[in-house]
Amino acid sequence: MKGVILAGGLGTRLRPLTNVTNKHLLPIYDRPMIFYPLQTLVRAGIRDILIVTGGNNAGDFLRLIGNGSAFGLKHVNYTYQKGEGGIADALKLAEHFADGEKLVVILGDNILQADITPYVEAYKRQPSGAKILLKRVSDPERFGVAVFRGKRVLAIEEKPRRPKSNCIVTGVYLYDAQVFDIVRTLVPSGRGELEITDVNNAYIRRRQMTYNLLKGWWSDCGTFDSLLRAAQLIARDSR
Ligand code: DAU
Repeated sequence: MKGVILAGGLGTRLRPLTNVTNKHLLPIYDRPMIFYPLQTLVRAGIRDILIVTGGNNAGDFLRLIGNGSAFGLKHVNYTYQKGEGGIADALKLAEHFADGEKLVVILGDNILQADITPYVEAYKRQPSGAKILLKRVSDPERFGVAVFRGKRVLAIEEKPRRPKSNCIVTGVYLYDAQVFDIVRTLVPSGRGELEITDVNNAYIRRRQMTYNLLKGWWSDCGTFDSLLRAAQLIARDSR
């Protein structure tokens, strides 16, 4: 399986921190943000990795990570997303790299305590379709929220005003090659982006989506509060 880190976008919610640099280069305690999703993939045995970046200072990723020797990698692939067309727009750029193989996709601002190896291994045994990792949170309205009937996920609602559960979709997605056909059918949402939630709903409609509840703590870093929280969680675990 191959890995993709989506680290494009303009990080507008973190201005002025992101006025002159890329969000994913900001520090989370003692490391640049991008190191954490990269480590998550490497820990799960993924060695063939593509970083999709964009916006400011894209060249700094190369200076920082190079060919990934600090992570035990021989080579890292890079590509550039123009503008802020959304997570699914960034994912489009991975089609050539994927070359028909299954993918682990992780958002560049998602920091996880858990080792995702068990989920990746379970997905390898899944004949086709996708898998998402869910997490219970206290502020589900900030995320993609799972709507359940019993244990079955009926749909994902993106940033609903009235969340139907407190179970949200984290930024770790396991996809097969169908994902690129699905992305081609998407139209921009109200916020002008190709939404990853629309991709996940397409798999759900095809009854080809499985999920697991993610163990350990999890944080995104898209707001000042979550950026601080992620740093505090990392600092606590490093002591
Ligand atoms: O963190 C999990 C959440 O991520 C999910 O629960 C939501 O369903 C999903 O839509 C997403 O929500 P956000 O609105 O918080 O995503 P954000 O726009 O902050 O983008 C997250 C990362 O995705 C960002 O750090 C880099 C990547 N990205 C984003 C955009 C908009 C790109 O690579 N390109 C883009 O154009």
